[in-house]
Amino acid sequence: MIRAAITSVGHFLPEERLTNFDLEKLVDTSDEWIRARTGIIERRILKDPKKPTSYMATRAARQALEKRGMDPSEIDLIIVGTVTPDMLFPATACLVQDQLGAENCWGFDVSAACSGFLFSLSTAARFIECGKHKAILVIGADKMSVIMDYTDRNSCIIFGDGAGAVLVEPEENGTGIIDSIERCDGSNWDALRMLGGGSLHPASHETIDKRMHYLFQEGRTVFKVAIEGMAAVSAAVMERNGLTGDDIRFLVPHQANQRIIDATARRMGITPDKVMINISRYGNTTAGTLPLCLYDWESELRRGDNLILSSFGGGFTWGATYLKWAYDGVRTPEMADMPQSAPG
Ligand SMILES: CC(C)(COP(=O)(O)OP(=O)(O)OC[C@H]1O[C@@H](n2cnc3c(N)ncnc32)[C@H](O)[C@@H]1OP(=O)(O)O)[C@@H](O)C(=O)NCCC(=O)NCCS
Repeated sequence: MIRAAITSVGHFLPEERLTNFDLEKLVDTSDEWIRARTGIIERRILKDPKKPTSYMATRAARQALEKRGMDPSEIDLIIVGTVTPDMLFPATACLVQDQLGAENCWGFDVSAACSGFLFSLSTAARFIECGKHKAILVIGADKMSVIMDYTDRNSCIIFGDGAGAVLVEPEENGTGIIDSIERCDGSNWDALRMLGGGSLHPASHETIDKRMHYLFQEGRTVFKVAIEGMAAVSAAVMERNGLTGDDIRFLVPHQANQRIIDATARRMGITPDKVMINISRYGNTTAGTLPLCLYDWESELRRGDNLILSSFGGGFTWGATYLKWAYDGVRTPEMADMPQSAPG
C-alpha cells in the first residue's frame, strides 16, 4: 500500500521580533495579560515590504529540498496554504514555482486559514496514494503582519509571520499518513475574517476607511468553537485507529492559544511533555504553525513515531491527521541553539 510520507522539513522565520512590550506601546495591553491569556511572548515580523509571502515560502521550500538533496525539477506539485497570498492571483504557488525554478510541476493555493497546511497535506496525500505523483511540496506560509490592525488589541497580539514546508513522497513500509478527518462550517464565517478586497467588498475608499482590509475576529466565539472542534476531530481520529494517549509520540497542534492547545491535549489524554508548543516564540503564524513545529522538533522524531496533527481556523475549518513519521531526525550544528524539547 502506497502512503504519503513527509521526508523533509524546511522553514523560514524573519529576524525581527515583535515583543509583548512592543505591543504595550501600540495598544492598551500588557505583557502579563498576553502571556496569561495566550501563552505568547513574542512573534516574528517581516518588515521589508518587498518581501511578500512567496519570499518566505520559497526559502522554506528550498531548505526542505536541500536537506533531502532533491532538485526542484523533480517536484510534481506545489501546494501553498495561505490567507496572505502575494496577490489574489496568480496563486502564490506559481510565484514559488518560478522562484525555485521547479520547471516540471503544477501548483495552486489552498485558502483554509489556519487549516491551510493541514488541508494542503491531505490534498497532497491523495495525489501520492493514487500513484500519480512522486514528490510534492506542501507549504504553509503567512505574512499576517500585513493584514493586522495594530490598533485592535483583540487580534494584533496573536499573529506573527513565518513559513514552513514539507516534502511529501510515497512510502510502502508502513510509515506516512494513515488517516485524516477534515471539516468546514461556514455558518460562523463572520467570527474570523477579512472583508475587504474580495468580490463582495472590492477595494474602494470606503473599504479602506472602514479598515476592512484587516483581519477581524470575535475572540470568544473562535476560542469556544476551536476547543470543541480541534479536540473532537483529534479524539475521533485516535479512536477510529484504536489509539490512546500512550500510543502517541507527539501531538502537533495549531498554535492559536496555549489554552486551546492544553484543552485539546487533555481531551486526547496526551501529557504536556508530548505536545509540540512554540507559540511563545512565534505567536500564531496561521498556515505556518504546523510545519514550523515539525521543523523545531524534527531532531527528536524517529521512524515509526505516531503523530497527530490538528488544526482549527477561520471558515471555520478544522481537521486532524494521524501519521507515522518516516525517518530519524538528526540534530545538525545549526540547531545547537534550539531547545531539545518543549521549547514553549
Ligand atoms: C483573543 C483572546 C486571546 C481573548 O482572550 P479571552 O480570554 O477570550 O478574553 P475576552 O475576549 O473574554 O476578554 C476579556 C477581557 O480582556 C480584555 N482584552 C481583550 N484583549 C485584550 C488585550 N490584548 N489586552 C488586555 N485586555 C484585553 C477584553 O476587553 C475584556 O475586558 P472586559 O472584561 O473589561 O470586557 C481569546 O479569545 C482567543 O485566543 N481566542 C481565539 C483566537 C484565535 O485562536 N484566533 C485564531 C484562530 S485560528
